[in-house]
Amino acid sequence: MEAVKVGLLGLGTVGCGVVRVLARNDEEIARRAGRAIRIVRAASRDLSVSRDCDLSGIALTNRAQDVVDDPEIDIVVELIGGTTIAYEMVMRAIDQGKHVVTANKALIALYGNEIFARASEQGVTVAFEAAVGGGIPIIKAIREALAGNTIEWLAGIINGTGNFILSEMRDKGRDFEDVLSEAQSLGYAEADPTFDVEGIDAAHKLTILASIAFGIPLQYERVYTEGITRITREDVTYAAELGYRIKHLGIARRRDSGIELRVHPTLIPHRRLIANVDGVMNAVLVRADAVGSTLYYGPGAGAEPTASAVVADLVDVTRALTVDPNNRVPHLAFHPDSLIDLQV
Ligand code: NDP
Ligand code: HSE
Repeated sequence: MEAVKVGLLGLGTVGCGVVRVLARNDEEIARRAGRAIRIVRAASRDLSVSRDCDLSGIALTNRAQDVVDDPEIDIVVELIGGTTIAYEMVMRAIDQGKHVVTANKALIALYGNEIFARASEQGVTVAFEAAVGGGIPIIKAIREALAGNTIEWLAGIINGTGNFILSEMRDKGRDFEDVLSEAQSLGYAEADPTFDVEGIDAAHKLTILASIAFGIPLQYERVYTEGITRITREDVTYAAELGYRIKHLGIARRRDSGIELRVHPTLIPHRRLIANVDGVMNAVLVRADAVGSTLYYGPGAGAEPTASAVVADLVDVTRALTVDPNNRVPHLAFHPDSLIDLQV
């Protein structure tokens, strides 16, 4: 069977990770997907930059629309980030009947309601596993594996950069700014790192998790958001002396009157599992009525962990198409007509 043809937007940390993972595991991936997955065209801003991946055989352009408009392409992978050009390109791809895979949590949290509605009209999938928790399959876990449960609450460390900063401050006494610079050079941080340290990135992710867990629309503007910029090395050290860890959590909880959504630093007793999630690792604890408590743990950022989730979405979309061209992977967990606008 002919390979599925992919157009890649962005050749940065995650984009190059996707190129490498697809090339390294191509045979295994083709067996899983039912046919090969080939990147045929890719866009980045600056074509003169040398990349950390082998781009031979991929046609390059610095105009994202060249990729989206290429009639050969079946699936567009958006790894540019932000909500301007990314929004424009995702909508343009959907309008041309192309499936989309993205790691862009800001885009999904802010424009997901509109994007999913348009995708449903056009009969295409927009898949976004990599948008929350990096390599942890948390979207699938909540949407699919917990589909028989009523979810009571979830709480998680969902920003790798912030957790890396807090861990290094505590364990090595390092300065906030120094660790943030390292997180940037390792490719963990957002293009604008204030998104990481002011809790905005975690709020985007919590918005997505809450929509999937509780069947509410995406409503980023209703999340209480506080970051880690006011936490000092002394705070982290004193907390440790008292038997606590300072962790930045995203919390979504079902209340009688609605759903509570908040992102802020918390003190957690060090004996708790989640208190021991350090560095760039993320963890999400979910409390549900049938299964009880489950914990999802893994690398929350970085090139190949994130690429792992992007490629899994590519396999899902390809597999569905290979079985039946009209098949689509679900967007959110609840039927779109059943969303309830709840928030306290
Ligand atoms: P990078 O900044 O490393 O890469 C962005 C890429 O987009 C670059 O190759 C850049 O080109 C390209 N680009 C920017 N503007 C344009 C444009 N107008 N036309 C064409 N190409 C453009 O970002 P990341 O790879 O880190 O992140 C990508 C997405 O993945 C973001 O949405 C991010 O939030 C998300 N994400 C990132 C994770 C991580 O660990 N880094 C983890 C999970 C999600 P050039 O290189 O030439 O400047
Ligand atoms: N900047 C994000 C983080 C990337 O540090 O968690 C993963 O979404």
